[in-house]
Order: sequence, then C-alpha cells, then structure tokens
Amino acid sequence: MKLAVSGKGGVGKTTIAAGLVQSFANTHKLVYAIDGDPDACLAAALGIPEDTANRLKPIAEMKELINSRGGSGSFYLLNPKVDDVPEQYAYRLGNIRFLRMGEVKKGGADCYCRENTFLQALIASLLLDRGEVVIMDMGAGIEHLSRGTARGVDLMLVVVEPNRNSINTARNVIKMAADLGIKKTRVVGNKIRFDREREFITGSFQPGELLELIKFNEDVWGSALGPADAAKAGKNFASEIETLREKILLELDEN
Ligand SMILES: Nc1ncnc2c1ncn2[C@@H]1O[C@H](COP(=O)(O)OP(=O)(O)OP(=O)(O)O)[C@@H](O)[C@H]1O
Ligand SMILES: [Mg+2]
Repeated sequence: MKLAVSGKGGVGKTTIAAGLVQSFANTHKLVYAIDGDPDACLAAALGIPEDTANRLKPIAEMKELINSRGGSGSFYLLNPKVDDVPEQYAYRLGNIRFLRMGEVKKGGADCYCRENTFLQALIASLLLDRGEVVIMDMGAGIEHLSRGTARGVDLMLVVVEPNRNSINTARNVIKMAADLGIKKTRVVGNKIRFDREREFITGSFQPGELLELIKFNEDVWGSALGPADAAKAGKNFASEIETLREKILLELDEN
C-alpha cells in the first residue's frame, strides 16, 4: 500500500505521516517512511534521535552512489539501478525503514539531471515495484511527483486545519493530484478544537471527500517544544491515528 501525505505548510502532514508509519509498523512487517520534504523533520517525528537524524545523509547528496549507478561521465543512465537502495541505505528503526530524499539543487551552471533522474527512479521503484507499505511525507508541493510515479500512489491524504487557507491549498492539491493520475485523494481535518471548526471543515468538502477529523491534541502540540516526537504524543492521538488507519484500509479495501 502506498500513501502520500500533503497539504499546506504546518497543517500536520509530518505528524500524521509519522503516526501512520508507527501504526502500520505495529502490524506490518516492513514500513517504508519516506521524507520527500526538503525541510525534513519526519525523522524527529518518528523518534529518531536528533544527532542521528542530522547525520543521515539525504539520498540526493549521495554523490558516489548516484555516480556509480547512473554513470559519472558526460552520459548518464535514464534508468539507474535503484531497487536495492531502499534496503541498503534506509535507516532502520524496528520494522520502519526511513529514507530521506533531500533536495536536488536547481539552476546555476551545473546540471543536476543525474541526481534528479536518480531520485525519480528511486521514487518510482518505491511506489511501483514494492509490495510493502510505503508512506511518503510530500511536503506542501506534489508537483515533483511525475505522472508515471503518481500512478503508484494508492491514496493521497490531504491534511487541512480549520482555516480557509489550508482548505484552498487542499483544493489545489486535490486538482493537481487528479491531473497527475493519483487514484484516490481524501481529506483529513486536523487540530479540531470546537464544533464550529468541525462543521467548517465538514461543510467545505463533498460527502465522501473527507476521510477523518483529528482533534487538537495538547500532547502533540507540547511535543513541538522539545524535539517533535509523535511517538510520545500520547494514547489519545495514537487511537485517533488508529481509526484513521482503519478508514484507510476500508477505503482501499485491504482489511
Ligand atoms: N492534532 C494535533 N494537535 C495539536 N498539535 C498538532 C496536531 N497535529 C500537528 N500538530 C502540531 O502542529 C505543528 C505542525 O505540525 P507538522 O510539522 O506535522 O506539520 P507539517 O504540515 O508537516 O508542517 P511543514 O509544512 O512545516 O512540514 C507541530 O508543532 C505539531 O506538533
Ligand atoms: Mg512537515
């Protein structure tokens, strides 16, 4: 099962992606947690210690690997061998395999086509060739998913919080996802405190578009004061994520 999580900045994508990774890791053999957001903090949310996380080199910066697989001369392979990369280069945390994609620099005199090709191939391999659960924190933009790889996403979750801006962003993401050929997109409302907020979000989407509403959780909010760690966010949040996971399974008919 391949899930992608997107939505406006700060809505709770990383928190929800990390919660789902942990929840699936409890019942599945292997869960790949992919940090596709250059402003990465999925590692911390998964409970990977900060100094360890800081030492994890993003794939985009693994020059030797990229050159050895893609060719280092003026020519490079358009389909470098990547199928063993997730196993070999992922950070292991129980049955979670964490990969940080990193950012390919743009512009300047240098061409970063080789790095881009490598990352695209790796994402395609994760989304199209693997049987495991793959959960990808996409950050706010999904445009770097190519048309071909978007096909591999079974469900895109678009997170919103109770404000108009995040809902407008969600609308754009939903449209972009459809244009890219993503099979299914569902909205998750997050940080709900009042009935009015619940109604606001419910009233902003068509029936069926909204998958779940998650309450504002003091423990989760408080965890941001230290290193954000969804693992320590408390039972209430975990049980809400568990419900979300069940709804995802129902939605994908996999339970
Ligand atoms: N249900 C919740 N209740 C309370 N606080 C929450 C909840 N979900 C997320 N948060 C808090 O909101 C903040 C933003 O969350 P998070 O980093 O997961 O968002 P994001 O969408 O990944 O942000 P970015 O766009 O910067 O990557 C964090 O401080 C997090 O602890
Ligand atoms: Mg994030």
